Amino acid sequence: MAVRKVIRMGHPHLRRVAEDVKEEFVKSSEFKELIADMFETMKAYEGIGLAAPQIDVNLKLAIIELPVSSPRYEEVEASEKHIIINPKIETLDESVAGCWEGCLSVPGLRGFVERPQKIKLTFRDENFEQREEVFEGFLATVVQHELDHLFGKLYIDHLKSNEFLAYQEEFDQFIQPSGEEVLD
Ligand code: NI
Repeated sequence: MAVRKVIRMGHPHLRRVAEDVKEEFVKSSEFKELIADMFETMKAYEGIGLAAPQIDVNLKLAIIELPVSSPRYEEVEASEKHIIINPKIETLDESVAGCWEGCLSVPGLRGFVERPQKIKLTFRDENFEQREEVFEGFLATVVQHELDHLFGKLYIDHLKSNEFLAYQEEFDQFIQPSGEEVLD
């Protein structure tokens, strides 16, 4: 296992649509190693989700795991490990909620983004089995953030205006105290 380097905003590979993952690859030992590296990298960078393009792997593959306890995510409930391959998303409820998102590929910044809070995901799991899952609330936001990476998008593309973008330090000083939800 190894911690891979997370590429940052400005790297052109964050701006391309990733390729579908093939079944043969999912059955390979290389895939298992990639998944292990992704979880190790996510934890090393203290993230709660990571998409393959962020470590410069051009595949429609993302992982999510909300930690059991972390001072940075006190108000967030822990989740199981999610491995999402070749996803398609459907919005089940158009009503949105906003969250101050952060991104390992956009370090040092926070941006307030509104997203639908109930989605249905159709995807392949780590055994390449077809699955369907409904995500709600904060987890729905995290899923949409990670899926953006598979389609060449970053959360900053969803800002209503630049007023909704802040440096981390100013965020901690002026915005965080208001107690709005945060996604890092
Ligand atoms: Ni991100």
